[in-house]
Amino acid sequence: MLLRIENVIAGYGGGDVLRGVNFEVAEGSITCVVGPNGAGKSTVLTVVSGLIRPRVGQVIFKGQNITGWNPKRILTSGLAQVPQNHSLFPMMTVRENVELGAYTLSDSALIRRRYDQIVEMFPVVRERANEQAGSLSGGQQRLVEFARSLMLDPALVMLDEPSMGLDPKTLKDVFKTIKDMQEAGKTILLVEQNAKAGLNLADHGVVMESGRVRLDGPSASVLNNPEIAALYLGGGIVAQAQH
Ligand SMILES: Nc1ncnc2c1ncn2[C@@H]1O[C@H](COP(=O)(O)OP(=O)(O)O)[C@@H](O)[C@H]1O
Ligand SMILES: [Mg+2]
Repeated sequence: MLLRIENVIAGYGGGDVLRGVNFEVAEGSITCVVGPNGAGKSTVLTVVSGLIRPRVGQVIFKGQNITGWNPKRILTSGLAQVPQNHSLFPMMTVRENVELGAYTLSDSALIRRRYDQIVEMFPVVRERANEQAGSLSGGQQRLVEFARSLMLDPALVMLDEPSMGLDPKTLKDVFKTIKDMQEAGKTILLVEQNAKAGLNLADHGVVMESGRVRLDGPSASVLNNPEIAALYLGGGIVAQAQH
């Protein structure tokens, strides 16, 4: 296990949003968290990255209890996050945005080496390196955000709703790149509103509802769970199974 979330109770000051969350992320996996809007999916990522401290429970990363560490220490320990909202600086170039991901490094040769490795996986970064990030499409900007998150060579990358606002063709490209990141050795914790697409990509699925984990298992078994299919997947799976 690379990451373990143990009995986490957390909120933003006005009450608990997470009401005892438990799940694990296996090293090398894509683990996908799905669930309705407001279930607490983004809040889980916020807790893991150290931006809010849980009232109860702990976060274990690489066997170490990182609960209460500050966000910078968590980031440099190998845990990166791509937030739900667009986070590039639109007036800066694509390359400058990617290099910002290395802000804790001072070795410029290392930064250049990392950048050169990362562009191998992201042709759009190489092709548009000197253009303003704001001139790229939504899907291309997502890929630049992914590239930026890899600059510190994290073990685990957390992606919050990368498919948001993307057309189906672009979504396919973005999901293919997530798979490429996994094949390059990254463990991925993915949050997706598009439950069917996210679970199809993932190895492991976690269904959240009202601040709790409702179901947790191999993604195929989550996809085939009739109740989950009816609630979150439009009943499509059940309907297909009856043919
Ligand atoms: N910064 C915040 N301050 C206060 N409440 C928040 C904040 N962010 C989220 N919440 C509340 O926490 C709950 C869970 O939100 P969130 O984790 O964003 O859900 P999800 O990502 O599953 O849609 C919601 O009720 C939301 O209104
Ligand atoms: Mg969210």
